[in-house]
Amino acid sequence: MVISSLAVPFVGAPMAGGPSTPELAAAVSEAGGLGFLAGGYLPTPQLARQIADVWDTSSRPFGVNLFVPESANTFTTSYAAGLAPLTGDLRAQAVSRYRESLLPEAERLGVELPEAVAGDTDDWDRKLDLVVREKVPVVSFTFGLPGPAVLVELRRAGIEAVVTVSDVEEAEAAIEAGVDVLVVQGPEAGGHRGTLDPVKEPSTEDLAELVAAVREGSTVPIVAAGGIATRARARQLLDAGATAVQVGTALLRTPEAGTSLAYRRALADPSLTRTVVTRAWSGRLARALETDFVRERDGLAPAAYPEVHHLTSPIRRASAAADDHRCLALWAGTGWREAGDVPAAVVVGRIVGD
Ligand SMILES: Cc1cc2nc3c(=O)[nH]c(=O)nc-3n(C[C@H](O)[C@H](O)[C@H](O)COP(=O)(O)O)c2cc1C
Repeated sequence: MVISSLAVPFVGAPMAGGPSTPELAAAVSEAGGLGFLAGGYLPTPQLARQIADVWDTSSRPFGVNLFVPESANTFTTSYAAGLAPLTGDLRAQAVSRYRESLLPEAERLGVELPEAVAGDTDDWDRKLDLVVREKVPVVSFTFGLPGPAVLVELRRAGIEAVVTVSDVEEAEAAIEAGVDVLVVQGPEAGGHRGTLDPVKEPSTEDLAELVAAVREGSTVPIVAAGGIATRARARQLLDAGATAVQVGTALLRTPEAGTSLAYRRALADPSLTRTVVTRAWSGRLARALETDFVRERDGLAPAAYPEVHHLTSPIRRASAAADDHRCLALWAGTGWREAGDVPAAVVVGRIVGD
């Protein structure tokens, strides 16, 4: 098992949209932890290049994270409980109304907004083939529980399968499905809430309590994620039963990360004073620094991932190119003030070193 036998109990969170790089993954793995590439949103050939780059830089194990599309997700409990997802015409109309509300920003930044396309799978099948072919040591999944055929295929290839969960019910479903490791994500996490279904309200239970509750029911290794920026918090989570901690935000300002300049500056900007959980950027709940864009659109965005993600994408790209954080998705966990402009190995040492 890779995650249970790390030299230091530290997993560098996959961070899609730019921050994850082969350099960052290799630096975390070289520091004794487990570095990750973020396969979400990346075109498959680019992910293949990134995997090759990590193999070239480091002989240590690393992981790749993939987003599970709705069509491949086998977790449907809240649907059964009557919390129906937005579908069909209603969904298309809600997305179209949200598109209208984005037009002033698009015009200001000089970009065209795409017409929303439903049913995007993020090239799921080809990405799965790629990680199996490359025998990436660890593959983690977010936004869904893949079916048994996928887990069997990974096991046959000797790949450790990890699924992100956000409450006990999801953890039980993932354990039942036979995953090797759980990432248990708490409410303080930066970026998307990794709920297995996009409809239900994510749990707000404290991460240490959640880890202890999941630990009680099973011996599957747990990686605790969310708001971890200090040694004291990491210790508390390891004491609660976690095998390792997964850290994202604290790595965002490291030189190895691909975080844009505007994003880096925003993380250190004292005028941005809090993080909130919002659907404004992607249609899925995610924790980000609160900006005017988020304040104005939070209540308007429909629960329509990934259509909303694709709609805001050109705005975010243009904002990064203009070095302006106003229309950037500034994903950040509650510990963002602790994120320093220091090498990744220093962050690893600060959080889990001797
Ligand atoms: C910028 C950013 C991008 C993220 N992208 C992903 C991703 O692609 N896949 C994933 O499983 N989690 C992603 N996450 C969530 C992390 O896996 C992890 O749960 C989170 O970073 C932990 O909280 P922290 O940021 O407070 O350390 C992202 C987090 C951030 C901050």
